[in-house]
Amino acid sequence: MKIRVDRHLKKVEFWAQGKEIQKVTGEELRRPNGHERLIHVFSRPRLMVDTAAISRLPSVRRDAVARLLEFPERVVEYDGVSVAWSDARYPGVWAPSIDTILFARAIRRLFGERHSRFIDSFLEIGCGSGFLSKYIIQKKRQIGAPISYAHIMDINRDALLSAMDAIEDVRGGTLVSYSLNRPKQGIKVARPFDLVISNPPYVSRPSSRDNNPFEGLFLYKEILERSRELMGRRSVLLTNFSSISKNEVYPAYQKQFRMKTLARMKVPLKIPLITARLSDESRKWVAYLEKHKKLMVDTRERSGYRYWQIIEIVECRMK
Ligand SMILES: C[S@@+](CC[C@H](N)C(=O)[O-])C[C@H]1O[C@@H](n2cnc3c(N)ncnc32)[C@H](O)[C@@H]1O
Repeated sequence: MKIRVDRHLKKVEFWAQGKEIQKVTGEELRRPNGHERLIHVFSRPRLMVDTAAISRLPSVRRDAVARLLEFPERVVEYDGVSVAWSDARYPGVWAPSIDTILFARAIRRLFGERHSRFIDSFLEIGCGSGFLSKYIIQKKRQIGAPISYAHIMDINRDALLSAMDAIEDVRGGTLVSYSLNRPKQGIKVARPFDLVISNPPYVSRPSSRDNNPFEGLFLYKEILERSRELMGRRSVLLTNFSSISKNEVYPAYQKQFRMKTLARMKVPLKIPLITARLSDESRKWVAYLEKHKKLMVDTRERSGYRYWQIIEIVECRMK
């Protein structure tokens, strides 16, 4: 299936592709390859897959959408850039999500500013599917100022594989290197970068395991401590802050950087391993978040979700 998000994040389209078309719509195509059929358009999206909005659809449309979601391959497209993701092929890799797309929107805004033309190299810390690195490489080429060098990191080997698969065909003359970070071993770079991006894990929790993309806030600390190695005086850092943990990390960033919010959105926290309360770990995690008032709670769940947060993509420049 393909999820296409419009440029201003006002609608999300769900498409069936190739052989999926027959299974979802009944339509027989002699040569399904390359064909796409629009199944549904969601307006004012709050998530890539908004289960509450899906459940409110008329039942036959709801079930067509549910059938589409059964296919393991998912292509996410925003602003002409797309990445194919599947949990079977890249286990445990963060799929392009609403925060990824909001981040891409902020990059789009940054690239609209004249001073961003000097950006010739970038570093992504925690690439997940590779969507954002691919976005930067493609968009910079489109505006006639291609990136010379990109370095891409993650702690999940499959994330690096996913990013490589996504980027290889579009990188052209851009030199791209990859490194596998080890938890608690620090970010190692050989040179500073004009642009550093990171959409780090942002849900604070009482005790941390190191290989889980959702936990802890250690990456914020690491980036802040190493910022003078990662960045030059004119470099830009783009990162994501969530209302869940903003109080814990934002003030320290403000001491070091001039900060400007480029994109902001209120979204549900839809990460079942945190919120489902089906394990001791999840029960403890939610209890911790509730006790410390880190979540916006819709107790009657009229919005379709119990837990909400505000995510914010912020440009940080050295003071
Ligand atoms: C919220 S996901 C964001 C993924 C992707 N950038 C996106 O926006 O879709 C955070 C990513 O950071 C990675 N990560 C966590 N700790 C890391 C570390 N110490 N070094 C590098 N990557 C890390 C996780 O594996 C995960 O892929």
